[in-house]
Amino acid sequence: MKDILHELEERRSGARLGGGQKRIDTQHAKGKLTARERIELLLDEGSFEEYDMFVAHRCTDFGMEKNRPYGDGVITGWGTINGRMVYVFSQDFTVLGGSVSATHAQKICKIMDMAVQNGAPVIGLNDSGGARIQEGVDSLAGYAEIFQRNVEASGVVPQISVIMGPCAGGAVYSPAMTDFIFMVRDTSYMFVTGPDVVKTVTNEVVTAEELGGASTHTKKSSVADGAFDNDVEALAEVRRLVDFLPLNNREKPPVRPFFDDVDRIETSLDTIIPENANQPYDMKELILKVADEGDFYEIQEDHAKNIITGFMRLEGRTVGIVANQPMVLAGCLDIDSSKKAARFVRFCDCFEIPILTFVDVPGFLPGTGQEYGGVIKHGAKLLFAYGEATVPKVTVITRKAYGGAYDVMSSKHLRGDVNYAWPTAEIAVMGAKGATEIIHRADLGDADKIAAHTAEYEDRFANPFVAAERGFIDEVIQPRSTRRRISRAFAMLRNKKLSNPWKKHDNIPL
Ligand code: HXC
Repeated sequence: MKDILHELEERRSGARLGGGQKRIDTQHAKGKLTARERIELLLDEGSFEEYDMFVAHRCTDFGMEKNRPYGDGVITGWGTINGRMVYVFSQDFTVLGGSVSATHAQKICKIMDMAVQNGAPVIGLNDSGGARIQEGVDSLAGYAEIFQRNVEASGVVPQISVIMGPCAGGAVYSPAMTDFIFMVRDTSYMFVTGPDVVKTVTNEVVTAEELGGASTHTKKSSVADGAFDNDVEALAEVRRLVDFLPLNNREKPPVRPFFDDVDRIETSLDTIIPENANQPYDMKELILKVADEGDFYEIQEDHAKNIITGFMRLEGRTVGIVANQPMVLAGCLDIDSSKKAARFVRFCDCFEIPILTFVDVPGFLPGTGQEYGGVIKHGAKLLFAYGEATVPKVTVITRKAYGGAYDVMSSKHLRGDVNYAWPTAEIAVMGAKGATEIIHRADLGDADKIAAHTAEYEDRFANPFVAAERGFIDEVIQPRSTRRRISRAFAMLRNKKLSNPWKKHDNIPL
């Protein structure tokens, strides 16, 4: 008996060493942690339950039968983050480059199946050379098994990917189907075809970092939702994100203790809107002032900055925020911001996270670039996402709400539950100048007349009261009391029940 216990411990320590000390040192020299160190940082201390530690591949080609390391390049299991269950896989680059074999894929599939069955998020720590070259099509089959599970788990349990090394070729498509992708600056990259192939096919010379590094994917492509300086920061931020999310689509988001007065009055908000309607102000200031303890977790901070998306809490409960940012492109909606916000709204709706929308939008961005790029279809994504969402929706119009963008931004007409406006709100078909130039075209040569018409239009429409008269705005509120008003609105909506007509699935304009 003693011998067997000893043997178990020996086998375990062998497995824990992964690809050996030399490769671990190489991993550290690159500024990367090992797969096990990452799990230790991600999960609560001592909470990790590992499965399949002794799994080894079955490949016999290319002499692989002589190289069958325990674990097969991925560590899998479950543990807790602040006491709440999550499933984890962490690819071990020190073992065969973290490459994906049939058995490696099976290990990942096993915990994904458990996650869906038992209702807990899946967090994937990716660090892999891709398909195990020696295994050929078996490896491709393994990937596809993972892809299928990503699809089935979507909207059932939150799926989070952290890219902490290479992630190339078809391997990118598993993270791409998860809810959030985070990258580590300088040590991670994602691309479908690498710099060498790009050079051969298109003659472009580009580095791996330029082609698929964290900066590219958080700023340009929007493939990634956030980038962090190192492994430690990335894992700490994933823990922070998980605290906002429900474990699955059958439960409500967590309620955490809060230490902020729900009735907190913010007098500074009364003067946040500049006198001149063309002057910007920072919408993030408003978000931070209404959130519990000023805590805001931003998603896609570096992409389409004309719209802000992220999570905060009100009375300890998670709320998803979508807000136009007047500091960038005057807060216009365009292709990128519509796609960014639509995806976020749909995530919230999948997981019963109520949505708070702050509106200051002058309209859609004009131009051939936008029209040729399909702003019609992309703008429709956001409209569609708000229209189909059945979670509680509270909207506050702080200033501009013009044209179609007024309708899109969680208006009453898209089943907004509580729609507030500040007294500074301007709700109309278009801005006064544009409107005057159209309806008083005959007076265009007379500057005085045009100025008088513009002033008249502003008086009549650049306010919240016309919409309030019709009940499209439930109440015009004092800016200072915004936190109290929206908190009470969400409290009132806690037991909201609304469903869409039965359908197999919708046909959102992709
Ligand atoms: C088997 C692999 C491997 C792979 C790396 N290794 N990638 N083994 N299959 N795909 C092994 C190496 O042989 C090496 O073993 C160890 O991992 C570390 O690799 P290095 O090359 O020394 O590391 P580094 O210099 O950091 O380079 C990392 C790398 C490079 C850029 C990822 O290894 C590389 O280019 N690998 C091949 C990538 C690739 O073409 N993959 C297939 C892509 S197609 P030793 O024993 O020497 O330590 C794909 C399709 C997926 O993935 C399709 C899904 C549908």
